[in-house]
Amino acid sequence: MKIIRSSKKMSQAARECVATGKTLALVPTMGALHDGHLALVERAQKSADIVVVSIFVNPKQFGPDEDYLNYPRDNRRDLALLRERKVDFVFMPPVEDIYPEGFETFVSVEQITQTLEGKSRPDHFRGVTTVVAKLFNICRPDVAVFGQKDYQQAQTLKKMTTDLSYPIKFIVASTVREKDGLALSSRNQYFNARERAEARCLIVGLRAAHEAFKAGETSLIALKTLISVEAEAICPTIKFEYIALTEFETLEPLDAPQKGAMISLAASVHGVRLIDNLRL
Ligand code: PAF
Repeated sequence: MKIIRSSKKMSQAARECVATGKTLALVPTMGALHDGHLALVERAQKSADIVVVSIFVNPKQFGPDEDYLNYPRDNRRDLALLRERKVDFVFMPPVEDIYPEGFETFVSVEQITQTLEGKSRPDHFRGVTTVVAKLFNICRPDVAVFGQKDYQQAQTLKKMTTDLSYPIKFIVASTVREKDGLALSSRNQYFNARERAEARCLIVGLRAAHEAFKAGETSLIALKTLISVEAEAICPTIKFEYIALTEFETLEPLDAPQKGAMISLAASVHGVRLIDNLRL
């Protein structure tokens, strides 16, 4: 496994791979790796000859009151995990390599970033699309792999890939969950044991809504109420930011549940902001 810390060297290594006729898959991450990331790596290894994992905590996607400085970082552990998985390259540039002084060019996807996370976190997606566009330009992947847990992010990046004509196969891999259903997230490590046990409340609420829909519930209000009642029964202090029902591809809001639609939510659970989703 080769660790590369400069975009120039990464571009060069990627060009060398292409010259030998090998295909390259990129898994962009912000580190603090968990089994969800490792599932993306596995998917990448099945999809291309060479796998690059980037580790870069991207300052441009954090709001001023968000956890950029405290975001969990553990390079030594991350590198050990990736070495075990026989990843070919880890790209871990310093911030000034990606955003040199005077940097002022951004990529933004306009429509689908206006709802859900985009409402609660202005400029978040602009930061995500900008850094991923840069990673695409540097690594020139044939394949890129993202997780379904960050559903709006995945749809936004997919749109960017199409709109900017990147010749990249875009893979969205299923959310990996703990035994009790909690979606894996680097932020789960902020919880103590009791808080962690209560964090399953999100998926319990979502699954209850899914069951109710399957049993014939047609009211969106009823589904939303069910999610909050079920979640509050487990974590009485939960604070929902949003519970939304949208068309899967376009993220257009829907008034009534329909098969294939997406229910997404964001909530603060013991002060930790979590997101999750489930497709009807
Ligand atoms: O999902 C993440 O970890 C980040 O948003 C990403 C895609 C690596 C861009 O910084």
